[in-house]
Amino acid sequence: MTTRQSPSHPAPLDAGTRAARAAGNAGEPTVEFAEATPYEQYVGVRQLQALVRPVTEHPAEPAFLVVTQVMELWFTLLRREWELAQRQLRADDLDAAIGSIRRSVHHLRSLDASWGSLLWLTPAEFNGFRDQLGEASGFQSYEYRHVEFLLGLKAESVVRPHRGLPVVHADLQRALAAPSLEDDVLAYLARRGLPVPATVLERDRTVTHEPDPAVTALWAEVYTDPRPGNELFTLGEALTDVAEVFTTWRQRHVTAVRRAMGAKPGSGGSAGLAWLERSAARMVFPDLWAARTVV
Ligand code: HEM
Repeated sequence: MTTRQSPSHPAPLDAGTRAARAAGNAGEPTVEFAEATPYEQYVGVRQLQALVRPVTEHPAEPAFLVVTQVMELWFTLLRREWELAQRQLRADDLDAAIGSIRRSVHHLRSLDASWGSLLWLTPAEFNGFRDQLGEASGFQSYEYRHVEFLLGLKAESVVRPHRGLPVVHADLQRALAAPSLEDDVLAYLARRGLPVPATVLERDRTVTHEPDPAVTALWAEVYTDPRPGNELFTLGEALTDVAEVFTTWRQRHVTAVRRAMGAKPGSGGSAGLAWLERSAARMVFPDLWAARTVV
């Protein structure tokens, strides 16, 4: 019997074989497998479990570690959805792009809901394993930086911690200079003949952008017709949902920090709460928010 050590693809099964198997099983699930179950081959449960390696015996630590790992997976999924939306916008397939962005809003809500599994963490419990984490901090999450960059929150300084991992570092540097989701939206709007200034289309992509009066006015114009049939309004609302739920996640992180460690300095070397509050205040898609004042 083979025991597979890494996830692999389960053998495909067509509808006819599936029906014949169900008939042969008298409607009951299959329970005989010569090797690891197809579920194990697909999901890689043992690999996932092997990654749950607390560094202390403290009973509060596994939840902290698993929630962090789960959030990393949500970051990866968000990144995939938004990179897909970018490709769809570049192919002028707006319906598909709206579909991807809407899906991502559901993932964001689940990401945000994950805080529920950590809100019980008291300062004494956190102290029980915090020192053993050394300088490890979510600040060093490169997948989170990809998420931020796709949302247009750019900074060269957050790429620097990853110089020790060349592949990760190169990928982040590429993402820093690449168009954000908003850049692709604006390029699409320009191709549809909307008045996006050339200065905006050609702006430096390695920095976070301030709101632009012409882009704000453009969205305000779109928002004068808030009907579901107005596909640009639907796009604007999907992006606003993304900005809102992502902001909620950041604000809940600030609250979780205040609750678990008060205003102590962070393990990543920052002042902690005060630094995070400033970071969380940065606006995602500022023109979409500014347009609401103009409408
Ligand atoms: C209650 C538990 C947590 C505490 C006390 C905490 C604390 C902190 C602190 C103090 C910082 C500022 C940087 C520094 O370390 O000096 C930070 C940043 C960060 N943490 Fe957490 N954290 C917690 C849970 C999490 C979880 C579960 C995640 C999920 C991956 C996470 C992701 C991040 C990210 C992405 C940043 C950078 C934020 C930014 O650049 O604006 N944190 N955290």
